[in-house]
Amino acid sequence: MRTPIIAGNWKMNKTADEAVAFVEQIREGLNATSGVDIVLCPPALAIPAVAASVKGTKIGVGAQNMYFAESGAFTGELAPNMLTPFCQYVILGHSERRAYFGETDEGVNKKIKAALAHGLTPMVCVGESLEQNEAGETHSFVSGQVKAAFAGLTAEQASVCVIAYEPIWAIGTGKTATVEQAGAIIGGTVRTAVAEILGDDVAQQVRIQYGGSVTEKNIAELMAHPDIDGALVGGASLKPTFVELVANAA
Ligand code: PGA
Repeated sequence: MRTPIIAGNWKMNKTADEAVAFVEQIREGLNATSGVDIVLCPPALAIPAVAASVKGTKIGVGAQNMYFAESGAFTGELAPNMLTPFCQYVILGHSERRAYFGETDEGVNKKIKAALAHGLTPMVCVGESLEQNEAGETHSFVSGQVKAAFAGLTAEQASVCVIAYEPIWAIGTGKTATVEQAGAIIGGTVRTAVAEILGDDVAQQVRIQYGGSVTEKNIAELMAHPDIDGALVGGASLKPTFVELVANAA
């Protein structure tokens, strides 16, 4: 059985002080939920404070990005071992990073390997644009992203990864994919792509989230689909109702 995983991607929102004040508001409610893994992904500078604030709870902490090198002349980047004292997870290849900061499939693949080497669980984002969706390219594009991300991974490494399928047209737009749409891509494309390169056992173990305008109102319906193992939540993870969202997922 795959334990569902709900992650809050705060993106570039909340200072360290604001982050801690918010965690203090939601901590008890989140910690009272069972049957679902919970991860908060604050901006990098708020990570240590959030990690201290959730210490002793079941709430995990994730970074929103990471570089693959161990150290060196990479101005502005964060190395895996800078995250490990505070984080168990790291979001990699988010569509915003791909669109605005030049992330490539090749770079995402290197980051996944580096994260795994340091014991961080990657939450790997894939998803098609509106144009690709309308052109009927979703299956081939997303399948290609998954295969490129997981290239060269062992079965053992891949099976602990989390994948987030986030159709770009559904991110921050209030337009959620229907359960049928999301479930069909997650089951028929993402899980199938994993099976094609790493086998059925790995494909059955990998947890695959849906992301894109998930709220406390639509989460239960999405989670009812047997192939959807949780959600990567943006906007709705910034509000106290995130507790309700997680409870409705459990
Ligand atoms: P959203 O963002 O929930 O605000 O649509 C999801 C994401 O980008 O991870």
